[in-house]
Amino acid sequence: EWTMERYIEEVRANLAQRVGRNPVLLLISGGVDSTVAGALLLKTLDPDQVHLMYMDTGLMRKKETEIVSANLNRLGAKHLHIIHCEKDFLSALSGLTDPEEKRRAIGDLFIRIQEREVGRLGLPETYFLAQGTLYTDLIESGKGVGKKAHVIKSHHNVRSPLVEAKRNAGRIIEPLDRLYKDEVRALGRILGIDEDIVMRHPFPGPGLAVRILGEVTREKCDILREADDIYIRELKRRGLYDQIWQAFAVLLPIRSVGVAGDVRKYGWVLALRAIVSEDGMTADVYPFPMKDLLEISTLITNTVKDIGRVTYDISSKPPATIEWE
Ligand code: XMP
Repeated sequence: EWTMERYIEEVRANLAQRVGRNPVLLLISGGVDSTVAGALLLKTLDPDQVHLMYMDTGLMRKKETEIVSANLNRLGAKHLHIIHCEKDFLSALSGLTDPEEKRRAIGDLFIRIQEREVGRLGLPETYFLAQGTLYTDLIESGKGVGKKAHVIKSHHNVRSPLVEAKRNAGRIIEPLDRLYKDEVRALGRILGIDEDIVMRHPFPGPGLAVRILGEVTREKCDILREADDIYIRELKRRGLYDQIWQAFAVLLPIRSVGVAGDVRKYGWVLALRAIVSEDGMTADVYPFPMKDLLEISTLITNTVKDIGRVTYDISSKPPATIEWE
């Protein structure tokens, strides 16, 4: 009989044989897969040989770094390397408005910092690199139909020379590669990861940068982080979060007029997105209960003073994409 406990034991045996006492490095993105992969390594290896690296790009959701590190520390992480590189990312993005240029700048910098920081760890040549690849990532890219799966993952691994070198050396381990997403979630629960992480919606590699249309600034990141956090917390409080495949807020590059007392005041326009989907390839708009939408809108404009107007995106994919950039 196949059980999650048995899967853990198989991974343990497999790692003991393949990895032995060598160090293992895992790059954590903050998403479900890499966090569960980290927890699984901590459970099945000696925590002393497990190196976890997480980059705080400043483009993360509110408290993301704290939540991820609290979880991994609680699960026994001994070498959790948090790289604070917010300033680097913001200056790389400064002046850029074209979405693809923004993505490229982020991807390039990501790889540059990753190489530098991994070098700084001074691990012996023999170290293994772990990845949170799932079964579906493999079959999709294997069949060649899952180009998107590759695109989605590319930001954190495929294009990275570090990953390529390790792959060529036969030193990649993918302990989740026989699991589907729902099984990864079940495993995460068994390993003791918080429900908030286990049930988390997907989040794009370039983070908030593709949800701030046009130029990204620190101030806009803070505004969006705050509004998005209110939105997501309200979805959870109202029992809607788990019915939705992906929900987030988008900060539009326009200001619109409003009233504050008897003066006209210009505030940013925020769009809320909520979609249902199987795999992100196509998506339907979540039929949001109007009452919840109105209350959430009021809460956001009352709390985040720079936002003057809230809209709800009612476009399916296709023709629209899930993200706005
Ligand atoms: P779209 O916007 O293409 O999004 O309908 C489909 C899914 O992919 C995510 N997404 C990305 N993920 N890097 C990523 O890692 C990206 O550049 C990127 N663009 C979109 C998006 O959040 C959705 O889940």
